[in-house]
Amino acid sequence: MKQTIEYEKIDEILAQHSNQKPPIVAILQDIQEEYRYLPKEIFPYLSEKLKVSIAKIYSVATFYENFSLSPKGEYIIKICDGTACHVRKSIPILDALRKELKLYEGKNTTDDLKFTVETVSCLGACGLAPVITVNDKVYAAMTPEKAVKLLNELRNGEGK
Ligand code: FES
Repeated sequence: MKQTIEYEKIDEILAQHSNQKPPIVAILQDIQEEYRYLPKEIFPYLSEKLKVSIAKIYSVATFYENFSLSPKGEYIIKICDGTACHVRKSIPILDALRKELKLYEGKNTTDDLKFTVETVSCLGACGLAPVITVNDKVYAAMTPEKAVKLLNELRNGEGK
């Protein structure tokens, strides 16, 4: 599903940064907050508005791990695969969620843009391993069964 870009929104974001030397990172952060990723169409537009080359903007966008160039789901589920979580069986949780959502390595987001499933290294809550987060809310001591139950709650609009 393709998202429509509202260039007025991008202009609003640019206006908020207009009194500074183009703070590309901050602008990209705001755009990503709005769209949950950085749509490719914005690069030429930003380049023209900011008088900065597309290559420069692109290099900033790809330098920071937090920026995504592909669309993300409404719910971003992160499965910790740091050491503590890995030994407590985080991978079966990942496998169960991927199976439920028909996702696989290389396809992290459902076609309806509802869910993104990704792995992260240590979330800093090793005592609660294995840990997953849904839009940054932490769920401790997960199992594949609990994760699928949580997924179904999210699908039904519960668990927000
Ligand atoms: S290894 Fe998962 S929270 Fe630290």
